[in-house]
Amino acid sequence: MNSTLPFQAEIAGIGSYLPEKVLTNSELQEKIDTNDEWIRKRTGIEERRIASKEESSSVLASQAGRRALSAANLEAGDVDLIIVATSSPDVLFPATACFVQKELAASRAVAFDITAVCSGFVFALSVAEQYLKTGKFETALVIGSEVNSRIVNWKDRSTCILFGDGAGAMVLKRSQGSERKGVLSTHIHSDGNRSELIRVPGGIGRTGVSSQAVENGEYFIHMSGNATFKIAVQKLEEVSREALAHNGFSTDDVDVVVPHQANRRIIDAAAERLDIDKGKVFSNIHKYGNTSAASIPIALAEAYEKGVIKKGNLVLLMVVGSGLTWGAGLIRW
Ligand code: COA
Repeated sequence: MNSTLPFQAEIAGIGSYLPEKVLTNSELQEKIDTNDEWIRKRTGIEERRIASKEESSSVLASQAGRRALSAANLEAGDVDLIIVATSSPDVLFPATACFVQKELAASRAVAFDITAVCSGFVFALSVAEQYLKTGKFETALVIGSEVNSRIVNWKDRSTCILFGDGAGAMVLKRSQGSERKGVLSTHIHSDGNRSELIRVPGGIGRTGVSSQAVENGEYFIHMSGNATFKIAVQKLEEVSREALAHNGFSTDDVDVVVPHQANRRIIDAAAERLDIDKGKVFSNIHKYGNTSAASIPIALAEAYEKGVIKKGNLVLLMVVGSGLTWGAGLIRW
């Protein structure tokens, strides 16, 4: 190690895992009062993936993690830190990340979860970035994984059409050098005063194990769609500008934007406000819907595999989610 050169958090590998089962808008239309055209027009979503009974968040996360490690040419035993961002954990505790550690046999790693709902991956990336840049750890596995299908109310047409299941993972490796590479910076924020916008109102700590809460649908996602839409666009613009200004970049410097895949109209509106060419904005929401914490790493993995993201590109991540939480990250790939 050369003590004069700063530490960097470089992207060593990325991978994703999507459950096989596809649920199309047309299939949903058979079950609830909705239609394919409405869903496509209002959200951009055409289908989403649904986890099988055997596939919990840790199962999806482990698959994605394996793929990211293989892309990085690393073994699980090389990993110092595993962070899983999820709001649909296997159980209340232990952390889903501990199940992933066991499954991958990453015996050296410290493993824990982060709950920032849709913003989870950028929050987790931010934590890993600090550990690598301070020199504390060398290799981090950051995963976003969700089985949203277990916490959506399949009778509520305003929410169940939006969400899907999946996992995405990124391996970060510490390096040293004067040329800035990898995660340039992350910017994360919260506003608990807006916690009512998207929430699961019931929980073990609040309601106990309660059949009344089950009956009232309190363990499902509740959302004020319209209000969330407006604040989402505003926060995405704000935090993206913050990340660009922090690094002395303008929107023209960005090669690829990988936004949280919540709603195609939210993505378009944010890109418009930022005055970013829509051709630079990557979206796969039509195939997977909103996979919460998994959406950014799933999209990053696909954009990289398709050659949309190339070595040397400046990539902007932007996200907003329940909490309220929001964040952005800039990566020199
Ligand atoms: N199918 C058909 N009609 C539906 C419907 C569905 N799945 N869901 C709602 N509607 C109806 C409503 O009942 C309403 O009918 P009304 O005018 O007769 O009352 C009408 O469509 C408009 O509803 P509204 O809620 O105003 O629609 P919208 O344009 O705001 O779109 C969302 C709804 C949920 C798609 C949109 O608000 C949204 O995406 N919000 C952000 C959600 C989000 O991304 N959350 C996660 C952030 S991380």
